[in-house]
Amino acid sequence: MSEPVADVVARGYDRLAQAYAGLEDGVEWPRLRRLRELLARLPQGSRVLDLGCGNGVPATAEIAKRHVAFGVDVSPRQIELARQNVPDATLSVGDVLELRYEPGSFDAIVAFYTFDHIPRERLPEMLDLMRGWLADGGWALFTVEAEEQVDTVAKWLGEPMFFSSYDAETSRRLVAEAGFEIVDAEVEEQLEGGHPVSYLWITARRREEER
Ligand SMILES: C[S@@+](CC[C@H](N)C(=O)[O-])C[C@H]1O[C@@H](n2cnc3c(N)ncnc32)[C@H](O)[C@@H]1O
Repeated sequence: MSEPVADVVARGYDRLAQAYAGLEDGVEWPRLRRLRELLARLPQGSRVLDLGCGNGVPATAEIAKRHVAFGVDVSPRQIELARQNVPDATLSVGDVLELRYEPGSFDAIVAFYTFDHIPRERLPEMLDLMRGWLADGGWALFTVEAEEQVDTVAKWLGEPMFFSSYDAETSRRLVAEAGFEIVDAEVEEQLEGGHPVSYLWITARRREEER
């Protein structure tokens, strides 16, 4: 592929932001239920980063109700919408693989439906970054698509979009190898515009440093 993946994804979401928001019409995806379970474990005012936050609804907005919300997305259009939807959050445009936060900056990091858009061979690097940004014992909640997809650009919602994922067992193993204690790992199907799609949902904690 000649064009950087992040550019394909950013342009795609700039154009399909509205169509994406309509995919959930009439159904409720598992993210809000799972996010609420996670947020209930955190003391009020915890620092929570939402990677690939999209337009900020519903996840970043839910975080901002009781916590200090941070959101990053590679699509300027999505961040423009997120700024309108969640004015209290700290939001920025960026590629999640290029972010550089201080170690231990966050009490929890979430990423919903984001990692299917980064090359799968970079998933270990992504997990390593997340682990570094989390405080000891910090929480992570994220999805990866459960079906294997070799790096590909396909038309999705009328725009070229990049997809990539390992099978669920490989992704789960990579999370454990990255220094996370897996608290829960479950494949759950959801309807996207009437089509069933399965995601592996991971809830994990940063393992404490050994002394
Ligand atoms: C399927 S949408 C999910 C949006 C939101 N998390 C949600 O729950 O609806 C994926 C989002 O991830 C963003 N994204 C994909 N790859 C990214 C990357 N490398 N860096 C930052 N954002 C990325 C896209 O721009 C898009 O807004």
